Amino acid sequence: MALRISLNINGTEHGVDLEDPRPTLLDVLRERIGLTGTKKGCDRGQCGACTVLVDGRRVNSCLTLAVSLEGAKITTVEGLANGDALHPVQTAFIEHDGFQCGYCTPGQIMSAIGLLSETEGKASAEAVREGMSGNLCRCGAYAGIQDAVMDAQA
Ligand code: FES
Repeated sequence: MALRISLNINGTEHGVDLEDPRPTLLDVLRERIGLTGTKKGCDRGQCGACTVLVDGRRVNSCLTLAVSLEGAKITTVEGLANGDALHPVQTAFIEHDGFQCGYCTPGQIMSAIGLLSETEGKASAEAVREGMSGNLCRCGAYAGIQDAVMDAQA
């Protein structure tokens, strides 16, 4: 059953024609809209590489059907910077080497922004570790990631 949906992504409305209601937000973002900053790792909710914000809350876009998000405000990593000015969490990741290969970084940054919102910028180091535990880094850059998140809330 073909259908047309409208998604608000980074403040812009995108009309998308779907053959059926099954495509995930992740696949629509990457393959239909061309926003490839959001990464596909496991495609089953285990790695966090696909994390985006929906109405300010963290979601795994590989587990979320695009059709369920009409009327929601979706934010991807492409929507963070303001011109040449990076988001403070992006800057913190650079300053603290919160990455190595970089593949998980968009998801890590989106998750960190969601976490800092949830904790109102008052998370302990342990709370940051726990709160970021859904985002895996195959390179093991966890020390830098934790430092970046702690610094971003300072
Ligand atoms: Fe969505 Fe791994 S790609 S959690």
